[in-house]
Amino acid sequence: MKILVTGGAGYIGSHTMIKLLENGYEVVCVDDLSNSKMIAVKKVEEISGKKVDFYKADIRDREALRKVFTEHKIDSVINFAGYKAVGESCAKPIEYYDNNIYGILVLIEVMREFGVKNLVFSSSATVYGNPHKVPITEDFPLSTSNPYGSTKLFIEYILKDLYKSDNEFNISILRYFNPIGAHPSGKIGEDPNGIPNNLCPYITKVCVGKLPFVNIFGDDYPTPDGTGVRDYIHVEDLAEGHVLAVKKLEEKPGLFIVNLGTGVGYSVLEMVNAFSKALGKEVPYKIGPRRPGDIPMCYADPSFAEEFIGFKAKRTLDDMCRDALNWQLNNPDGYVE
Ligand code: NAD
Ligand code: UFG
Repeated sequence: MKILVTGGAGYIGSHTMIKLLENGYEVVCVDDLSNSKMIAVKKVEEISGKKVDFYKADIRDREALRKVFTEHKIDSVINFAGYKAVGESCAKPIEYYDNNIYGILVLIEVMREFGVKNLVFSSSATVYGNPHKVPITEDFPLSTSNPYGSTKLFIEYILKDLYKSDNEFNISILRYFNPIGAHPSGKIGEDPNGIPNNLCPYITKVCVGKLPFVNIFGDDYPTPDGTGVRDYIHVEDLAEGHVLAVKKLEEKPGLFIVNLGTGVGYSVLEMVNAFSKALGKEVPYKIGPRRPGDIPMCYADPSFAEEFIGFKAKRTLDDMCRDALNWQLNNPDGYVE
């Protein structure tokens, strides 16, 4: 079985390609390297001992995609390709709509042209907006408060309409909670450009002395210690969830939506403490004001994922912190080509 992974050079894609290769799948990767480096694909090959057929291309480039589908008999597609920074999406909404929405439209059109009808899509817990309660089940109301979130929600609508119009499609919408951590080898991991926006890559930069302290965005939320609570999931667990989703598509299940989370929420302070434990010394932090747009609490009800695709996150918070830190200590400047 051959899987096309778009955006495979990125953080989640690179970990997923390893799991696919380990599970006997052949992998073709299309990535324009707009937010990643080729060395990540080389590391995937090094870790797995297997080859990835790599194409440097933008998924909006129809001819480039046609070439890939002509040269390979693709069974299923996993689409990671897209922009993902919430703040940037507010400054550059048109670029986000164009890349994320137009990108998947071109991809679907070329899939249809070549009779490929199995698709896994990276959605996000952001589509739940500010949930009325926790844990969050897949049938919660959906909303969006920024252009990035809107692209995810609109694509979910597009995929639902596509399936209604052609039920030969098998579509897996995976709503990720907060992926963190890295491959235990320390060879691949998250490599954001500039100062990280997300909590964990920020903390690991503080751990290696690249940043002075962690800014905690608010301690007056209605949570046990006042800081924001999230469902952090090890990227290795998340990657395994994709293999299960691909296997499920082979059973021709139609369209399904699952949360990929652990079902456990940790606060920002708990995260700082967990990293202090992994590092063996206190991670410095300062409490500051809330970040506009943040919600108090978000964690998954993961029971449908377990029931429907057999997914259950196995790795602990200690595993996540150890592996994230190991990656950052081995690669203080991220990937260097
Ligand atoms: P990433 O930026 O590391 O990976 C995305 C990859 O897609 C990058 O390698 C980038 O170069 C590539 N890309 C972007 N636009 C492209 C295009 N038009 N054509 C080809 N390649 C393109 O991001 P990630 O964290 O690995 O996220 C993967 C997917 O999961 C994204 O769609 C993201 O929105 C979604 N997601 C991520 C998170 C998270 O916290 N990381 C949470 C929920 C959902
Ligand atoms: N936080 C800090 N300091 C920081 C960064 C974050 O205190 O420097 C806090 C936030 O206020 C929040 C928590 O840490 O309470 C997590 O923040 P992240 O930015 O790491 O993650 P978010 O939950 O805000 O958002 C992430 C992705 C979204 C995605 C969402 C759900 O950035 O794209 O998870 O998957 F939609």
